[in-house]
Amino acid sequence: MTAQPEPAVQLENLTRRFRVRAAGAGGSGTAAEASRVTAIDGVTLQIHRGELFGLLGPNGAGKTTTIRILCTLLAPTAGTARVWEFDVVRDPAQVRRHIGVVLTGERAVYWRLTGRENLEYFAALHRVPAVQARRRIAALLDLVELTPRADDLVERYSTGMRQRLALVKALLHDPPVLLLDEPTTGLDPQAARNARDLVRRLHRDEGKTIILTTHYMEEADQLCERVGIIDRGRIIALDTPQALKRAQQQRTALRLEVEGPAPRAAALVQALPGVGQVTVVEQPGDSIWDVTVELADINETLPQAVQILSGQGLRVRHLRVQDVSLEDVFIALTGRRLRD
Ligand SMILES: Nc1ncnc2c1ncn2[C@@H]1O[C@H](COP(=O)(O)OP(=O)(O)OP(=O)(O)O)[C@@H](O)[C@H]1O
Ligand SMILES: [Mg+2]
Repeated sequence: MTAQPEPAVQLENLTRRFRVRAAGAGGSGTAAEASRVTAIDGVTLQIHRGELFGLLGPNGAGKTTTIRILCTLLAPTAGTARVWEFDVVRDPAQVRRHIGVVLTGERAVYWRLTGRENLEYFAALHRVPAVQARRRIAALLDLVELTPRADDLVERYSTGMRQRLALVKALLHDPPVLLLDEPTTGLDPQAARNARDLVRRLHRDEGKTIILTTHYMEEADQLCERVGIIDRGRIIALDTPQALKRAQQQRTALRLEVEGPAPRAAALVQALPGVGQVTVVEQPGDSIWDVTVELADINETLPQAVQILSGQGLRVRHLRVQDVSLEDVFIALTGRRLRD
Protein backbone atom coordinates (compact mmCIF):
# COMPACT_ATOMS: atom_id res chain seq x y z
CA MET A 1 0.00 0.00 0.00
CA THR A 2 1.40 3.38 -0.97
CA ALA A 3 1.05 6.27 1.41
CA GLN A 4 -1.16 9.13 0.31
CA PRO A 5 1.04 12.11 -0.57
CA GLU A 6 0.63 15.15 1.62
CA PRO A 7 -1.69 17.73 0.15
CA ALA A 8 -0.03 20.79 -1.42
CA VAL A 9 -1.86 23.08 0.98
CA GLN A 10 -3.79 22.25 4.10
CA LEU A 11 -5.82 24.77 6.07
CA GLU A 12 -7.33 23.70 9.35
CA ASN A 13 -9.81 25.96 11.05
CA LEU A 14 -7.81 28.89 9.74
CA THR A 15 -8.90 32.17 11.27
CA ARG A 16 -7.56 35.68 10.92
CA ARG A 17 -8.95 38.70 12.69
CA PHE A 18 -7.85 42.29 12.23
CA ARG A 19 -8.11 45.10 14.71
CA VAL A 20 -9.66 48.06 12.93
CA ARG A 21 -10.00 51.57 14.29
CA ALA A 22 -13.51 52.90 13.85
CA ALA A 23 -13.31 56.68 14.15
CA GLY A 24 -16.13 57.33 16.68
CA ALA A 25 -19.12 56.62 14.45
CA GLY A 26 -21.39 57.82 17.22
CA GLY A 27 -19.88 61.25 16.81
CA SER A 28 -18.93 61.44 20.49
CA GLY A 29 -15.50 62.73 19.55
CA THR A 30 -13.84 60.43 22.07
CA ALA A 31 -10.85 58.25 21.27
CA ALA A 32 -11.28 55.96 18.26
CA GLU A 33 -12.73 52.61 19.24
CA ALA A 34 -10.95 49.45 18.27
CA SER A 35 -13.15 46.71 16.85
CA ARG A 36 -12.29 43.46 15.19
CA VAL A 37 -12.99 42.21 11.69
CA THR A 38 -12.92 38.49 11.02
CA ALA A 39 -11.34 38.26 7.57
CA ILE A 40 -11.03 34.45 7.62
CA ASP A 41 -13.49 32.56 9.74
CA GLY A 42 -12.48 28.96 10.48
CA VAL A 43 -11.57 27.74 7.00
CA THR A 44 -10.72 24.06 6.58
CA LEU A 45 -9.54 23.16 3.11
CA GLN A 46 -7.15 20.83 1.31
CA ILE A 47 -5.62 21.56 -2.06
CA HIS A 48 -4.05 18.59 -3.78
CA ARG A 49 -0.62 18.45 -5.33
CA GLY A 50 -0.84 19.34 -9.02
CA GLU A 51 -4.26 20.92 -8.70
CA LEU A 52 -5.37 24.18 -10.35
CA PHE A 53 -7.56 25.65 -7.64
CA GLY A 54 -9.56 28.87 -7.59
CA LEU A 55 -10.74 30.86 -4.61
CA LEU A 56 -13.75 32.79 -5.91
CA GLY A 57 -15.45 35.50 -3.93
CA PRO A 58 -16.63 39.11 -3.77
CA ASN A 59 -14.64 42.10 -2.47
CA GLY A 60 -13.59 41.68 1.13
CA ALA A 61 -14.31 37.93 1.19
CA GLY A 62 -10.86 37.06 2.57
CA LYS A 63 -9.06 35.93 -0.59
CA THR A 64 -5.96 38.10 -0.31
CA THR A 65 -5.72 37.48 3.42
CA THR A 66 -5.63 33.73 2.75
CA ILE A 67 -2.84 34.18 0.19
CA ARG A 68 -0.89 36.45 2.53
CA ILE A 69 -1.03 33.82 5.27
CA LEU A 70 0.12 31.11 2.86
CA CYS A 71 3.13 33.15 1.80
CA THR A 72 4.06 33.90 5.44
CA LEU A 73 3.39 37.65 5.22
CA LEU A 74 0.65 37.37 7.84
CA ALA A 75 0.24 35.04 10.82
CA PRO A 76 -3.05 33.26 11.53
CA THR A 77 -5.02 34.36 14.60
CA ALA A 78 -6.09 30.73 15.11
CA GLY A 79 -5.92 27.44 13.27
CA THR A 80 -3.10 26.25 11.01
CA ALA A 81 -1.93 26.55 7.43
CA ARG A 82 0.58 24.17 5.89
CA VAL A 83 2.28 24.26 2.50
CA TRP A 84 3.76 20.97 1.26
CA GLU A 85 4.33 19.61 4.72
CA PHE A 86 5.50 22.81 6.38
CA ASP A 87 3.64 24.95 8.86
CA VAL A 88 3.58 28.65 7.92
CA VAL A 89 4.32 29.73 11.50
CA ARG A 90 6.83 27.09 12.59
CA ASP A 91 8.69 26.68 9.30
CA PRO A 92 8.31 29.86 7.23
CA ALA A 93 11.65 29.48 5.40
CA GLN A 94 10.65 26.03 4.08
CA VAL A 95 7.23 27.35 3.11
CA ARG A 96 8.82 30.19 1.13
CA ARG A 97 11.11 27.73 -0.63
CA HIS A 98 8.04 25.81 -1.85
CA ILE A 99 5.96 28.73 -3.09
CA GLY A 100 6.10 31.44 -5.70
CA VAL A 101 3.69 34.29 -5.19
CA VAL A 102 2.35 37.18 -7.25
CA LEU A 103 0.26 39.65 -5.26
CA THR A 104 -1.93 42.29 -6.93
CA GLY A 105 -0.91 45.89 -6.97
CA GLU A 106 2.46 45.01 -5.49
CA ARG A 107 5.57 46.59 -7.00
CA ALA A 108 7.23 43.22 -7.35
CA VAL A 109 10.16 44.45 -9.47
CA TYR A 110 12.35 47.53 -9.84
CA TRP A 111 11.10 49.82 -12.59
CA ARG A 112 14.51 51.49 -13.05
CA LEU A 113 16.14 48.19 -13.98
CA THR A 114 15.63 46.05 -17.06
CA GLY A 115 13.56 42.89 -16.88
CA ARG A 116 16.67 40.74 -17.09
CA GLU A 117 18.57 42.75 -14.44
CA ASN A 118 15.63 42.32 -12.08
CA LEU A 119 15.60 38.57 -12.60
CA GLU A 120 19.38 38.22 -12.14
CA TYR A 121 19.13 40.20 -8.92
CA PHE A 122 16.28 38.11 -7.49
CA ALA A 123 17.89 34.85 -8.59
CA ALA A 124 20.99 35.86 -6.63
CA LEU A 125 18.80 36.60 -3.59
CA HIS A 126 17.40 33.08 -3.89
CA ARG A 127 21.03 31.84 -4.15
CA VAL A 128 20.45 30.24 -7.54
CA PRO A 129 23.97 29.62 -8.97
CA ALA A 130 24.78 32.12 -11.77
CA VAL A 131 25.03 29.70 -14.70
CA GLN A 132 21.84 27.91 -13.73
CA ALA A 133 20.13 31.26 -13.15
CA ARG A 134 21.02 32.53 -16.64
CA ARG A 135 19.60 29.38 -18.21
CA ARG A 136 16.45 29.45 -16.14
CA ILE A 137 15.88 33.16 -16.76
CA ALA A 138 16.21 32.68 -20.52
CA ALA A 139 13.77 29.76 -20.51
CA LEU A 140 11.22 31.58 -18.35
CA LEU A 141 11.43 34.78 -20.41
CA ASP A 142 10.70 32.63 -23.46
CA LEU A 143 7.79 30.95 -21.72
CA VAL A 144 6.11 34.29 -20.97
CA GLU A 145 7.17 35.77 -24.35
CA LEU A 146 9.20 38.57 -22.85
CA THR A 147 12.55 37.72 -24.48
CA PRO A 148 12.43 40.54 -27.05
CA ARG A 149 11.86 43.12 -24.28
CA ALA A 150 14.12 41.56 -21.62
CA ASP A 151 16.73 44.33 -21.88
CA ASP A 152 14.26 47.25 -21.77
CA LEU A 153 13.65 49.15 -18.56
CA VAL A 154 10.59 47.87 -16.69
CA GLU A 155 9.19 51.42 -16.56
CA ARG A 156 8.63 51.10 -20.32
CA TYR A 157 6.66 47.85 -19.93
CA SER A 158 2.87 47.58 -20.19
CA THR A 159 0.85 46.37 -17.20
CA GLY A 160 0.56 42.92 -18.75
CA MET A 161 4.32 42.72 -19.30
CA ARG A 162 5.03 43.73 -15.70
CA GLN A 163 2.61 41.06 -14.55
CA ARG A 164 4.43 38.44 -16.63
CA LEU A 165 7.79 39.59 -15.29
CA ALA A 166 6.43 39.27 -11.74
CA LEU A 167 5.39 35.73 -12.61
CA VAL A 168 8.90 34.87 -13.85
CA LYS A 169 10.32 36.31 -10.64
CA ALA A 170 7.98 34.05 -8.65
CA LEU A 171 9.19 31.01 -10.61
CA LEU A 172 12.96 31.60 -10.39
CA HIS A 173 13.53 29.10 -7.58
CA ASP A 174 11.25 26.55 -9.30
CA PRO A 175 8.69 26.25 -6.49
CA PRO A 176 6.08 23.49 -6.76
CA VAL A 177 3.26 25.80 -5.61
CA LEU A 178 2.26 29.05 -7.27
CA LEU A 179 -0.03 31.54 -5.50
CA LEU A 180 -1.63 34.13 -7.77
CA ASP A 181 -3.79 36.87 -6.26
CA GLU A 182 -6.23 38.12 -8.94
CA PRO A 183 -3.91 37.36 -11.86
CA THR A 184 -6.03 39.15 -14.47
CA THR A 185 -7.36 42.15 -12.56
CA GLY A 186 -6.34 45.39 -14.24
CA LEU A 187 -5.40 43.74 -17.52
CA ASP A 188 -7.12 44.48 -20.83
CA PRO A 189 -9.13 41.56 -22.29
CA GLN A 190 -6.33 40.39 -24.58
CA ALA A 191 -3.70 40.50 -21.81
CA ALA A 192 -6.12 38.73 -19.47
CA ARG A 193 -6.61 35.96 -22.01
CA ASN A 194 -2.84 35.59 -22.38
CA ALA A 195 -2.47 35.45 -18.60
CA ARG A 196 -5.06 32.66 -18.36
CA ASP A 197 -3.29 30.71 -21.12
CA LEU A 198 -0.03 31.08 -19.27
CA VAL A 199 -1.58 29.78 -16.05
CA ARG A 200 -2.91 26.77 -17.96
CA ARG A 201 0.53 26.10 -19.47
CA LEU A 202 2.29 26.35 -16.11
CA HIS A 203 -0.17 23.87 -14.70
CA ARG A 204 -0.13 21.44 -17.62
CA ASP A 205 3.50 21.59 -18.80
CA GLU A 206 5.37 22.41 -15.59
CA GLY A 207 3.10 20.45 -13.25
CA LYS A 208 2.71 23.37 -10.85
CA THR A 209 0.09 23.37 -8.14
CA ILE A 210 -1.67 26.67 -8.73
CA ILE A 211 -3.91 28.51 -6.31
CA LEU A 212 -5.44 31.66 -7.69
CA THR A 213 -8.00 34.09 -6.40
CA THR A 214 -10.57 35.81 -8.55
CA HIS A 215 -13.86 37.61 -8.41
CA TYR A 216 -14.55 36.76 -12.06
CA MET A 217 -16.87 33.77 -12.13
CA GLU A 218 -16.11 33.03 -15.81
CA GLU A 219 -12.43 32.92 -14.99
CA ALA A 220 -12.94 30.45 -12.17
CA ASP A 221 -15.29 28.44 -14.37
CA GLN A 222 -13.00 28.21 -17.40
CA LEU A 223 -9.68 27.91 -15.67
CA CYS A 224 -9.99 25.98 -12.43
CA GLU A 225 -10.33 22.26 -11.80
CA ARG A 226 -11.91 22.98 -8.45
CA VAL A 227 -13.37 26.14 -6.98
CA GLY A 228 -13.92 27.23 -3.40
CA ILE A 229 -16.50 29.97 -3.14
CA ILE A 230 -15.54 32.21 -0.25
CA ASP A 231 -17.85 34.76 1.34
CA ARG A 232 -17.28 36.76 4.53
CA GLY A 233 -14.31 34.59 5.43
CA ARG A 234 -16.09 31.26 5.04
CA ILE A 235 -15.98 28.63 2.32
CA ILE A 236 -19.63 28.29 1.36
CA ALA A 237 -19.20 25.85 -1.55
CA LEU A 238 -16.35 23.65 -2.75
CA ASP A 239 -16.37 21.50 -5.87
CA THR A 240 -15.65 21.39 -9.58
CA PRO A 241 -17.33 24.25 -11.47
CA GLN A 242 -19.50 21.66 -13.26
CA ALA A 243 -20.70 20.08 -10.03
CA LEU A 244 -21.38 23.46 -8.41
CA LYS A 245 -23.61 24.40 -11.32
CA ARG A 246 -25.25 20.96 -11.48
CA ALA A 247 -26.24 21.20 -7.82
CA GLN A 248 -28.43 24.17 -8.68
CA GLN A 249 -32.15 23.45 -8.64
CA GLN A 250 -32.72 25.94 -11.40
CA ARG A 251 -30.48 24.80 -14.22
CA THR A 252 -31.41 27.20 -16.98
CA ALA A 253 -32.31 30.82 -17.35
CA LEU A 254 -34.69 31.96 -20.05
CA ARG A 255 -33.97 35.57 -20.92
CA LEU A 256 -36.58 37.46 -22.94
CA GLU A 257 -37.11 40.92 -24.30
CA VAL A 258 -40.85 41.59 -24.64
CA GLU A 259 -43.30 44.36 -25.53
CA GLY A 260 -46.63 44.63 -23.67
CA PRO A 261 -47.96 44.05 -20.11
CA ALA A 262 -44.98 42.05 -18.84
CA PRO A 263 -45.47 42.22 -15.03
CA ARG A 264 -48.94 40.59 -15.21
CA ALA A 265 -47.71 37.85 -17.55
CA ALA A 266 -44.62 37.27 -15.40
CA ALA A 267 -46.79 36.64 -12.35
CA LEU A 268 -48.61 33.88 -14.27
CA VAL A 269 -45.31 32.34 -15.41
CA GLN A 270 -44.04 32.47 -11.83
CA ALA A 271 -46.94 30.23 -10.78
CA LEU A 272 -45.87 27.40 -13.12
CA PRO A 273 -44.29 24.36 -11.47
CA GLY A 274 -40.50 24.18 -11.91
CA VAL A 275 -40.09 27.93 -12.23
CA GLY A 276 -37.62 29.61 -9.89
CA GLN A 277 -37.05 33.31 -9.72
CA VAL A 278 -38.73 35.57 -12.31
CA THR A 279 -37.41 39.10 -12.71
CA VAL A 280 -38.96 41.87 -14.80
CA VAL A 281 -37.04 45.04 -15.54
CA GLU A 282 -38.41 47.81 -17.74
CA GLN A 283 -36.05 49.25 -20.32
CA PRO A 284 -35.94 53.04 -20.26
CA GLY A 285 -38.49 54.50 -22.67
CA ASP A 286 -40.99 52.52 -24.67
CA SER A 287 -42.57 49.75 -22.55
CA ILE A 288 -40.04 47.08 -23.48
CA TRP A 289 -39.19 44.71 -20.69
CA ASP A 290 -36.33 42.37 -19.88
CA VAL A 291 -37.71 39.22 -18.31
CA THR A 292 -35.59 36.45 -16.77
CA VAL A 293 -37.23 33.15 -15.87
CA GLU A 294 -35.22 30.47 -14.05
CA LEU A 295 -36.30 26.96 -15.02
CA ALA A 296 -35.56 23.55 -13.54
CA ASP A 297 -36.41 21.70 -16.74
CA ILE A 298 -36.28 23.52 -20.01
CA ASN A 299 -38.23 20.91 -22.02
CA GLU A 300 -41.10 20.82 -19.60
CA THR A 301 -41.52 24.48 -18.82
CA LEU A 302 -40.32 26.49 -21.80
CA PRO A 303 -43.34 25.83 -24.09
CA GLN A 304 -45.79 26.62 -21.27
CA ALA A 305 -43.96 29.80 -20.34
CA VAL A 306 -43.89 31.05 -23.91
CA GLN A 307 -47.56 30.14 -24.36
CA ILE A 308 -48.55 32.18 -21.31
CA LEU A 309 -46.50 35.15 -22.40
CA SER A 310 -47.98 35.24 -25.90
CA GLY A 311 -51.50 34.52 -24.53
CA GLN A 312 -51.18 37.73 -22.51
CA GLY A 313 -50.65 39.69 -25.69
CA LEU A 314 -46.91 40.09 -25.30
CA ARG A 315 -44.70 40.32 -28.33
CA VAL A 316 -41.40 38.50 -27.86
CA ARG A 317 -38.66 40.56 -29.50
CA HIS A 318 -35.75 38.43 -28.40
CA LEU A 319 -35.33 35.12 -26.58
CA ARG A 320 -32.20 33.49 -25.23
CA VAL A 321 -31.64 30.37 -23.11
CA GLN A 322 -28.56 30.24 -20.91
CA ASP A 323 -27.10 27.71 -18.51
CA VAL A 324 -26.74 28.83 -14.91
CA SER A 325 -23.40 30.41 -14.09
CA LEU A 326 -21.27 30.41 -10.96
CA GLU A 327 -22.80 33.85 -10.36
CA ASP A 328 -26.22 32.16 -10.13
CA VAL A 329 -24.71 29.64 -7.70
CA PHE A 330 -23.41 32.49 -5.55
CA ILE A 331 -26.77 34.29 -5.60
CA ALA A 332 -28.56 31.07 -4.64
CA LEU A 333 -26.18 30.57 -1.69
CA THR A 334 -26.05 34.13 -0.39
CA GLY A 335 -28.97 36.05 -1.88
CA ARG A 336 -26.43 38.58 -3.13
CA ARG A 337 -24.58 39.18 -6.37
CA LEU A 338 -20.87 38.42 -6.61
CA ARG A 339 -20.32 41.92 -8.01
CA ASP A 340 -22.56 44.74 -6.84
N1 LIG B 1 -4.40 44.82 7.26
C1 LIG B 1 -5.71 44.86 7.48
N2 LIG B 1 -6.23 45.55 8.51
C2 LIG B 1 -7.55 45.56 8.76
N3 LIG B 1 -8.46 44.91 8.03
C3 LIG B 1 -8.03 44.20 6.99
C4 LIG B 1 -6.63 44.13 6.65
N4 LIG B 1 -6.50 43.34 5.55
C5 LIG B 1 -7.74 42.94 5.24
N5 LIG B 1 -8.66 43.44 6.08
C6 LIG B 1 -10.11 43.18 6.06
O1 LIG B 1 -10.32 41.78 5.96
C7 LIG B 1 -11.39 41.47 5.08
C8 LIG B 1 -10.90 40.59 3.96
O2 LIG B 1 -9.99 41.32 3.13
P1 LIG B 1 -9.24 40.66 1.89
O3 LIG B 1 -8.29 41.69 1.38
O4 LIG B 1 -8.68 39.35 2.28
O5 LIG B 1 -10.44 40.45 0.88
P2 LIG B 1 -10.40 40.01 -0.66
O6 LIG B 1 -11.30 38.83 -0.79
O7 LIG B 1 -9.01 39.89 -1.13
O8 LIG B 1 -11.13 41.25 -1.36
P3 LIG B 1 -10.85 41.97 -2.79
O9 LIG B 1 -11.64 41.22 -3.79
O10 LIG B 1 -11.40 43.35 -2.57
O11 LIG B 1 -9.38 41.96 -3.03
C9 LIG B 1 -11.93 42.82 4.63
O12 LIG B 1 -13.00 43.17 5.46
C10 LIG B 1 -10.77 43.76 4.83
O13 LIG B 1 -11.22 45.07 5.05
MG1 LIG C 1 -7.93 40.82 -2.62
